[in-house]
Amino acid sequence: MNPLDEVRSSWASLAPTLNAAGETILAELRSRFVGKKGEVPGLMRHLGSLSADEKPHYGAAVQALRQEIETALDHFQAALREQKLSEKLARETLDLSLEGAGADAGTLHPLLALRDEILDMFTGMGFEVADAPEIDTEWFNFSALNVPDDHPARDMQDTFFLEREPGCEPLVLRTHTSNYQIHAMRDRKPPFRLINCGQVFRCDADATHAPMFCQIEGLVLDRGITFAHLKATLFTMVRSLYGPQAVVRFRPSFFPFTEPSAEMDVDCRSVGLDRDGWMEIGGCGMVHPNVLRNGGVDPDEFQGFALGFGLDRMAMLRHGIKDISLLTNGDMRFLKQFRGLA
Ligand code: DAH
Repeated sequence: MNPLDEVRSSWASLAPTLNAAGETILAELRSRFVGKKGEVPGLMRHLGSLSADEKPHYGAAVQALRQEIETALDHFQAALREQKLSEKLARETLDLSLEGAGADAGTLHPLLALRDEILDMFTGMGFEVADAPEIDTEWFNFSALNVPDDHPARDMQDTFFLEREPGCEPLVLRTHTSNYQIHAMRDRKPPFRLINCGQVFRCDADATHAPMFCQIEGLVLDRGITFAHLKATLFTMVRSLYGPQAVVRFRPSFFPFTEPSAEMDVDCRSVGLDRDGWMEIGGCGMVHPNVLRNGGVDPDEFQGFALGFGLDRMAMLRHGIKDISLLTNGDMRFLKQFRGLA
């Protein structure tokens, strides 16, 4: 047998072992036959003993054999990779049939259930749900909302500032969802009715204050908007959440971004709470002309109202919860009472 046929037949006898063995044999066969010092390149050594006529045929035959072997090895390698991947995928499949129903079935957290209900109610009144960043510049959180640089409101809200290189624009964890008012005005043209719900952060903690809590923020801009529109919207919200017997009051208040401004309190007993007094649930007012200007809106053409409410406070009133931290500390004994809210 000539050397070419010898290599060809030893390849032919070993090729079937590819299917049986895995990567090891693949590497072995590749180096034995087509590696730098492999049998096929070795065949070229015989070129010198061939006649000028034979040389081109021989060279082409060696090349063809090399091609055949490499193709077979490559195919096998690809198939091997494929097979490994599908084995891995099969191993990692999630068994969705795992028991989920029954006594320990999951349920919506009372805050999420309330958020969904409120957003649903506002979208029913023609509001669109929008969003804004939780980490924002001091400008969006304060300055653009007409809060002067040295205004105590910046301290009043116990702001968490982020560490920044000197000279970089100051960033804060937003202290209220009102930062979204300016984003909203800059992102779209009035008229619009927007509602937003998100986390806000303040360095503050007691029975009715948490360092991270959730606010609902509404912004309506149009021509001819008055305080009456604001009141009607809030009464609709409160009655829908707590029933027609709910007693509320507006108190004149001050926010730099609204003029006039008010706060809204709910009479605890009127919503079934076992205690006297009022609970403040949020602030509101007519959007200040400076805020409109900072948002790129002409205050002579558009007016509007804004409202910002604490979702946690509203949930406390709704369910008679006395300590706000219960809503976020993950105590299952507490949470299980709300099963079936969703
Ligand atoms: N951002 C205020 C706060 O967190 C609440 C607020 C008051 C929001 C008046 C408003 C508003 O949109 O008009 O204390």
